[in-house]
Order: sequence, then C-alpha cells, then structure tokens
Amino acid sequence: MSLARDQGDRAIGVALDGTDGEGTLGARELKAAGGLVLAECVPENLAHSDAAAALADAVLPVDEVPDRLVSLIEQAARGLSRTEAPASEDIQAAGTVEALNAIAGLLCQKTGHDFHGYKRGTFLRRVQRRMQALLIDELPAYIELLRTSADEAQNLFNDLLIGVTEFFRDGKEWAILEQDVIPHLFKGKHRREPLRVWVVGCSTGEEAYSLAILLAEHRAKVEEPPPIQIFASDLDGQALAAGRAGRYSDSIARQMTPERLARWFVKEGDTYCVVKELREMCIFSQHSLIKDAPFSRLDLVSCRNLLIYLDAELQEKVIPLFHFALRPGGFLFLGNSENASRHQNLFVPVEPRSRIFRRLDTATRVFPDFPFTSVDRPRIARSAGHGASMIQPTAARDLTRWAEHAMERHNPAFVVIDEGHNVLHFSGPMGRFLAPASGAASLNLLQLVHPALRAELRNALSRAAVEEHSVELPGRELGTNGQRLRVNLIIEPRLAVSDRQPGFLVVFKD
Ligand SMILES: C[S@@+](CC[C@H](N)C(=O)[O-])C[C@H]1O[C@@H](n2cnc3c(N)ncnc32)[C@H](O)[C@@H]1O
Repeated sequence: MSLARDQGDRAIGVALDGTDGEGTLGARELKAAGGLVLAECVPENLAHSDAAAALADAVLPVDEVPDRLVSLIEQAARGLSRTEAPASEDIQAAGTVEALNAIAGLLCQKTGHDFHGYKRGTFLRRVQRRMQALLIDELPAYIELLRTSADEAQNLFNDLLIGVTEFFRDGKEWAILEQDVIPHLFKGKHRREPLRVWVVGCSTGEEAYSLAILLAEHRAKVEEPPPIQIFASDLDGQALAAGRAGRYSDSIARQMTPERLARWFVKEGDTYCVVKELREMCIFSQHSLIKDAPFSRLDLVSCRNLLIYLDAELQEKVIPLFHFALRPGGFLFLGNSENASRHQNLFVPVEPRSRIFRRLDTATRVFPDFPFTSVDRPRIARSAGHGASMIQPTAARDLTRWAEHAMERHNPAFVVIDEGHNVLHFSGPMGRFLAPASGAASLNLLQLVHPALRAELRNALSRAAVEEHSVELPGRELGTNGQRLRVNLIIEPRLAVSDRQPGFLVVFKD
C-alpha cells in the first residue's frame, strides 16, 4: 500500500500465493493508483473473485516473474511508459481513432458493454496499459489479440473501470450534504415510506457507506425514522464484491474522524470492517448506467467521478436520466469536476458552485431516449439469426419506454419481449434466472430462462395474451450455484391497439 502511495502509476507489485486478503487489498490499492500487478499463478485461487490474481494484469508461474519484471522495465525505458498521457494529436490521428473504434466494437461484442461514448484519451491510456502488461508495442497486434483471445476482452474491460475512491471524498461537499441536504431527506417521511438513495458507480463501496453513516447518524435524531435503502451499483463485479464484504485497509483512518471510525467500523488485524447496521442498509448490484433501466422514486442520486469518463454527448444524456429517476424535490450529488449547469431547467445547485443539485419540477416527466448505447438492439437480434424480431427501432423503443414506466411498480430485474418472446431489453441482475439452452444462440426468452421456469412461463405468456391481463406465478423454486431460490414471476401483456407495438414485460422478483 505504501508502494502505491509512493510511486503511483510507476509501481509494479507482485502478489505471491498465500498473502490472502492482504495481497488482495494491496493489489487493489496498486491498481487504483494506476500501477501494474503481477500475480503468482495458482489455479485454485482464480476461482475467488476477490483473490489478488483476479485483479492482476498478468498471472504467471513464480519462476517467470523476474523475467517479466525486467521486460516491463525495459519496455518503460523504450518509451511506452504508462506515466506519459497520450498527446492530443496522437489521440486524434485517423489510425488511432479507427483502432479505438475497432477495440470498442470488439469489447461490445465480447462483453456486451459499449465504451464508444467514453473519453478517447482515457480509453487509449487504458489500452496502452494492457499492451504494456502483455509486452505488445503496436495497436494492430493488440486488436488481433483481442479478436482471438478468450480472456483479453474481459481483462481490458476490468482495466477500463477505474475504481479510485475513498470515504467522504471532497470533504467540503460532504459537509454541505450533511448540514443542508440530509435533514431535508427525512422531511415528510414516516415508518412506511422508505428513504431511497442510488449510488451510481459505487466502486468498492466507500461512497455508499459514507452516505449510510450520515443517514444513520441523522436517523438517530428522528422520532419515527423511515427505513433507509441505499442502492449501490457499478459495472465492476469485483469492486461490488469488495463493497459487499465491507473490509478496508487501515489507510481509511485518514479519511474520517476517529469518532466515526470507532462508531462504524470493527478493527480486525490491519483492516477495518463496516458494522452490520450499515451493511444492511446497502444493496450492491451490477448495473450499467448507460444500458440498464434506472432505479426510480429516489430521494438522492449520488453519481460522483463517473461522468468525467464519458464524452460530452453521453454526459448530456445522463443528467435528464437522473431527473427522471428522482422524486420531486430530490437531490443529485456529482463529483468535483462534474456539473449539471447545462440543464438549468432540470437542476439548481444548493449553493453557488456546489456539486449538489436540487431537482426542479418540470411540466412533463419525459423518459430519456434510452439505453444510451450505440447499438441498435433489434438490428442485432435479426443479424444474430434467431429469426424473430421484425420490429422497427422506434416501435421497439416505444415498447421499452412503456415497460420502463410499468417497472416503477416493481423492482428490477425484468425483460421486455416482443410477441414472439424475443428479448428486446434486459434490466437489472438477471443472471440467476437464466440458463440458456445449448445449441444455436438465441434471444428467445423461453430458451434463455432457467429450465425450471420454462414450461410454466410458456403457459403464463399464452394466458396473459389470451386473457389480456397480467399473470402472476408466485414462489417458483429454482436451483442456482448449489442454492435454492424462490422467485415470483409477473407477466404483463401489452396489447396491440392501432399502431402500438404489442409485447410483454416479464418481471423476476426474488
Ligand atoms: C472513479 S470511480 C468513482 C467511485 C466513487 N463514485 C467515487 O467518486 O469515489 C468510477 C466508477 O464508475 C464505474 N463505471 C464506469 N462506467 C460505468 C457504467 N456505465 N455504469 C456503472 N458504473 C460505471 C467504474 O466501474 C468505477 O467503479
């Protein structure tokens, strides 16, 4: 950890087997500082998502580590050092733009996540970092590797998610939040009306727990406090696992007062664990801000230091999404280099120059054109060859928008399907409910859904279509990863009326 602090993105760390949680924390700190991590190759450790090896840039047998270290140092000396930001003319060069588009396209194809709207300079820097870890000097060679390798897309995806974070980051804004905003959030709430917060891009959880601390401290002063729900979401599954675990290195002692540290953490060796009371307030889930439907009816959205990675066009689209997700009078908390000032009709700062904004009421509450990916889903469905969707893009968008509104009555996860049961839109953590049938790839929900649900879902879809109202299948049991799960299914039909696109919303509630 001191190496990360001292050398930042010049650091190279080696995580040997047997260092357990300490190695993982060290690897995370090095990566957060922009450094490289090599890990000793011990196959059984790769199964643990929080093992240092899962975070490493390269995993190799221990006797290959010295040679790799020498090669990395020589490569840095040749000028491919990560410490030099790419010059703007390098980023704009036609060949580079083309190469980056090809890389973003391959990433989208292989991981399902679209990075076309991310800032080009940062994207190039992360690609160069991967090239350095793999000892590759030229972009075309890297593209070829991305095309042929089974793992490289996932490795680059992990590297693109820059998870630097800390507790109460930018203290001045947190002081405003504590004094002026938190008391407001409790106003008019009662025991049956939860106070709902969404932390977007929560990384390893520090921001979510900082909010939990402020809310819990204020809750103690309120007579009939409401339940508090903090939805903490991120694209990065490994970071979310760390957030759920709530175990941090002792460097967090510098990030809050000793009183808070003593009240809200339990010291275990060189680490601090978040107390159960705070952990129970936070629900961590994998969710993409630009791909998945937003949470709704929120009192506070905290999206800090994520927008800075998006280009101007994508940033412009995200702010109205937050307006849609918030209740009237709700608040938006952005990072110090981020702003909502181009949307003065939607948000106003609580203080001049503050990054905390109050939501303004608007006459209409329009759902933003969503999702924000550059991928045309119906076209992909057709070109993937599973025959089904002949839906025009605008009609599909209209159907999806209707489903988003219907979703306000339920919790994610859900899918929107067309009349032929082909998926147009996934939302929320769906993985547990799906187990695709083997054979040709398909987006047909009946082939994707867990076999235990297949027959009943088919019947329920027919009933919903014939009876023209929603059908519920409560308490269905299925086994995933050795565990039993009970799920309630809700199937809501959308009927064909004049030129309206018919289809279904299928909600999975566990
Ligand atoms: C620099 S961290 C910010 C952490 C924390 N919010 C803070 O300010 O301290 C940015 C986070 O955004 C996440 N992220 C990037 N793109 C995202 C997306 N499309 N949807 C959700 N999270 C995303 C990354 O995985 C990373 O954890």
